[in-house]
Amino acid sequence: MKKVVLMILFFVIIFASCSVKSSQITSPDENIAVSFQLSPKDGAFSYVVKFKEKTIIDTSYIGFNFKNMPSLNKGFKAVVKKPVEVNNTWQMPWGEQLNVVNNYNEVTVQLEEIADLKRKVNVIFRVYNDGVGFRYDFPEQENVREVFITDEKTEFNLTEDYKTFWIPGDWDIYEHLYSTTKLSEIDALNYKVNEALAQTSIPENAVNTPVTLVGKEGVHLSFHEAALVDYAGMTLKVDTEKLSFTSNLVGSKNTDYKVKRTAPFKTPWRTIQITDNAPDLIASSLIVNLNEPNKLGDVSWFTPMKYTGVWWEMHLGKSTWDYGMEMVDGKWKDTGKAHRKHGATTENVKRFIDFSAKNNIGGVLVEGWNTGWERWIGFEDREGVFDFVTPYPDYDLDEVTSYAKSKGVQIIMHHETSAATKTYEKQQDTAYAFMQKYSMHTVKSGYVGKILPKGEFHHGQFMVNQYNNAAIKAAKFQVAVNAHEPIKATGLRRTYPNIISREGLRGQEFNAWSSDGGNPPEHLPIVAFTRMLAGPIDFTPGIFNIKFNEYKDGNQVNTTLAQQLALYVVIYSPVQMTADLVEHYEANPKPLQFIKDVGVNWSETKVLNGSVGDFVTIARKERETDNWFLGSITDENSREIEIDFSFLENNIKYEAIIYKDGKNAHWNNNPLDIAIETLTVTKETKMKLNLAAGGGLAISIKKTN
Ligand code: NOJ
Ligand code: CA
Repeated sequence: MKKVVLMILFFVIIFASCSVKSSQITSPDENIAVSFQLSPKDGAFSYVVKFKEKTIIDTSYIGFNFKNMPSLNKGFKAVVKKPVEVNNTWQMPWGEQLNVVNNYNEVTVQLEEIADLKRKVNVIFRVYNDGVGFRYDFPEQENVREVFITDEKTEFNLTEDYKTFWIPGDWDIYEHLYSTTKLSEIDALNYKVNEALAQTSIPENAVNTPVTLVGKEGVHLSFHEAALVDYAGMTLKVDTEKLSFTSNLVGSKNTDYKVKRTAPFKTPWRTIQITDNAPDLIASSLIVNLNEPNKLGDVSWFTPMKYTGVWWEMHLGKSTWDYGMEMVDGKWKDTGKAHRKHGATTENVKRFIDFSAKNNIGGVLVEGWNTGWERWIGFEDREGVFDFVTPYPDYDLDEVTSYAKSKGVQIIMHHETSAATKTYEKQQDTAYAFMQKYSMHTVKSGYVGKILPKGEFHHGQFMVNQYNNAAIKAAKFQVAVNAHEPIKATGLRRTYPNIISREGLRGQEFNAWSSDGGNPPEHLPIVAFTRMLAGPIDFTPGIFNIKFNEYKDGNQVNTTLAQQLALYVVIYSPVQMTADLVEHYEANPKPLQFIKDVGVNWSETKVLNGSVGDFVTIARKERETDNWFLGSITDENSREIEIDFSFLENNIKYEAIIYKDGKNAHWNNNPLDIAIETLTVTKETKMKLNLAAGGGLAISIKKTN
């Protein structure tokens, strides 16, 4: 720290005397150093990031273009504020861990134009041991009031042609398979988009974040953003020759700017997670640390839980969301054409309640319970279709909720907004109050389809505000939100813990109906090191009937059964679905035992090993019991992994139930081959285990003494 202060003081003096032009701030462990300077030529501001003395980000400039004023990118003078070191620990109400260490050095560089408008913008750097965050702060000032940003130009000039794990910079959806290419070979404009997507828009050769890069000498980088509030989502435009990214904000067809704000305001943090190995990327808390503390106070009305649901059966085609009603004079009418496939019936939901109660599963999600599904996907005019309070005639909400209560199970609400934002905004008070009346504390929301009003995109400023405002409003009714087709996670769950989970990736559902073969075995070993760095994922694991030929001949899940169990540990979410049909679980009581046992809320997480896109092993300690659970998954390659149980406590014997791929297991040829054994393990135990191709390993580790 002393070194940091000295260097910064040097900087101030330098500026006062206008001779030398740079200064730096380091991470608390001094492995990461950010230096910044004004160009002697034109007074443009740039920064450089070094990791263990190696330049990771070379001279990279910053700047803004506006609709209503000249660009702000040069002609600056600078004052550097005294740096501060912050070191505190905060607690997550639920999460991957209980205590989060928040330790960084911060410096604010106050930039001011020397000539003309004398506009001011502060650049705030926070340097942690696991990466860097920086944001722009537009203070209150004479010549900057209402601001219409047409482009933010934050550069990230890289120094190596990294192996890059990326999805295209789609303005409308993140549900894409990852490509693995060199940085110089990223070609988002020729990315083959899945034909089933109801909306997509890829205007540039850009990628969405988190995007993860692996260097030849083991440097691991992941670019993302934190605290995305009242601003447009950021994609990263790729320059394949210069090997660089430049921020490219998501726009709108309805405005000739991308962000509208009034000074004073701050942008989201631009983040770079930096480690020298893959596991530490997952262990990084940079994204949540850069967000503000909990603004909701006591949130104990929500409890993390596993949940089943009337859901997979629709994706398999066993049942439907819609009931068969007709719209007559703008009102839904039961005209006697109800079909027998409607899924959300009182009787069917009770079956899920019974099953959940029996198997230590806290919730039941019910989709297709409310009127409107007859005019959902594929319809242009979706405003006014759903109301979120009117059940179909065969669904008795009073009966279902009181039955659930008697069994100690919660019903999870479903709001498919169909991206009809006007309707949803108008309905929110009523819809959340309705939930409160039925003591429902969790809603899964959905935003399938092109955004209404037309011309907006899922990731622009308009929708960022829709998602954030919905969650803030929901909190007032003690409702926690799990959004699908969401805006990306940027750590806001720290500030609003009721933002519990979200989709925002190609989830399990693609395996049920996608015409491109579903999610390949490498998908989740990539997701763990990309999308999961942003925050909790509602992936919906636990499919036991891997091939489901009786429903869909041409589709299947592309993992072994053991991997489906491992996902409960590998993928973090405070709501974790037990996604398969009741009958498929009842036919397989032995592997079901793992789901029954596994926790959902953790006091500690240890990432034991891993390689981006190849495999990963994670152990997590359950908050309530101090039992440990371990999950390991691999891509299409089988491999042997060594598990070192040294994370366990001293002098304690544990009973380990091991759920591993059988000898002949293979994601495609033999996915159901699973071997289950019980052993005693201690802190001293080391074990070599095999993962099949597309396979996995799940272990529950319970204290015995
Ligand atoms: C897409 C969601 O991802 C899926 O989980 C849900 O079942 C459908 N929309 C219907 O809302
Ligand atoms: Ca989806």
